[in-house]
Amino acid sequence: MAGSRERALVLVPVLATRRRDWVSGATAAEAEAIGQPGLRAAAPGRRRVSLHSPSDRLAEARGLAEAIALDVRDALVVNVADPKPGTLFGSGKVEELGRLIADHEIGLVIVDHAVTPVQQRNLEKAWQAKVLDRTGLILEIFGARARTREGRLQVELAHLSYQKGRLVRAWTHLERQRGGAGFLGGPGEAQIELDRRMLQERIDGIRRDLAQVVRTRELHRAGRRKIPYPVVAIVGYTNAGKSTLFNRITGADVLAMDQVFATLDPTMREVKLASGRRVILSDTVGFISDLPTMLVAAFRATLEEVIDADLILHVRDISHDETEAQSRDVEEVLASLGIDMTPAEHHVLEVWNKIDRLAPELRSDVENSARFRAPRPVLVSAMTGEGLAGLLDAIDARLGANDEIVAVPVAAGDGKLRAWLYENADVVAVEEKEDGSAVFTVRIPADRKGRLDARLAAARGPSPA
Ligand code: GTP
Repeated sequence: MAGSRERALVLVPVLATRRRDWVSGATAAEAEAIGQPGLRAAAPGRRRVSLHSPSDRLAEARGLAEAIALDVRDALVVNVADPKPGTLFGSGKVEELGRLIADHEIGLVIVDHAVTPVQQRNLEKAWQAKVLDRTGLILEIFGARARTREGRLQVELAHLSYQKGRLVRAWTHLERQRGGAGFLGGPGEAQIELDRRMLQERIDGIRRDLAQVVRTRELHRAGRRKIPYPVVAIVGYTNAGKSTLFNRITGADVLAMDQVFATLDPTMREVKLASGRRVILSDTVGFISDLPTMLVAAFRATLEEVIDADLILHVRDISHDETEAQSRDVEEVLASLGIDMTPAEHHVLEVWNKIDRLAPELRSDVENSARFRAPRPVLVSAMTGEGLAGLLDAIDARLGANDEIVAVPVAAGDGKLRAWLYENADVVAVEEKEDGSAVFTVRIPADRKGRLDARLAAARGPSPA
């Protein structure tokens, strides 16, 4: 027996509009899975660069459900050709799923999509089971993971705002039966009886507490700012390996587990680099696609460390099929916080993690594409430690106070200069011209600037007397 673990069913609705978006990169099996076997399949081995595919969303949603210890009985992709305002799914589908739910005695259905209060109420009634949408699920996980007082307050605040927005719905008897801690249980019932005004009072109270916590943290931060150490913040998609990397670099024992959102609160440690430069390394919350906006807002304070950071390490699981889509999700969240993640923006360094998991052939592809990216990503395995020395050097170089940023014109066909720049400088941006020439913007340590000047002078030929 699975003890008191709730039996759950995970549904990933694929709406017709979204389906079109990722389809050009779908594999044959995936095209089959969404009932469109005739679709053009991607070339074998080609990585998709579009949206998360249904099969990956399925795996991710299952992972999320398991992160709060649910007993996931089944996980299905459900095509929704015509979303119904009342029930999201069509009536035939609702019935069919209802039979499955009854057969497996499922008490909780997770719908990996936004579900309106009305849809939720109707589905709960039809299925005699509780329905949780993606936001509700993510809030659950955040609630279970928050470690600091600030983290807990923020999650509670997001939770209350979510509930307040959904007060219109009638609560089912199932909710009252459910006991225990967390949103699925205890607090839910108590809060149901509260009216909007009382919820609002609670929200205001939490806001006041939060403001106090934030003020205290501000003071600490101001104190730390007196020590002029640069702050290096680690960001990345959930499960990318941020905590593992943080632990590797600092030797600290931050919770690292194969679980989404193991890290909810920033953790900071001082690190000394090879140059003798000291930095503060900060581990932050993991991001996920479709992160509920209210959570982004709630975590804004936590993410202030990122906003203020001198350098942002964007850790990516480069072995993941969806690494490009994940990367874009992270960039979107950061952009919503006002952080420019475009490559030309100097303070982001991409760390391509988990290279130990790449098959040799893919690995050389990845190495090649890294070589010509500007700025150049650093390849590491936080697990084996490979590439870490290079990463620390790259951080050191990026923070180099004496570095100069120069624009270097490169003539068409001057492969040698290009190679030299990639080898000896940090290429920040490349502007390719139509005639084959280019302008490289590079950050170069002061001691190498002389060599660059000499090369450029030699390329120009002898100066007229
Ligand atoms: P969140 O807290 O959810 O944001 O996750 P995180 O980004 O902090 O990831 P974490 O460090 O917890 O790692 C997630 C999983 O990936 C763990 O099982 C790690 O052991 C594994 N992992 C991390 N780095 C590597 C790596 O370089 N190679 C391999 N093979 N596994 C890794």
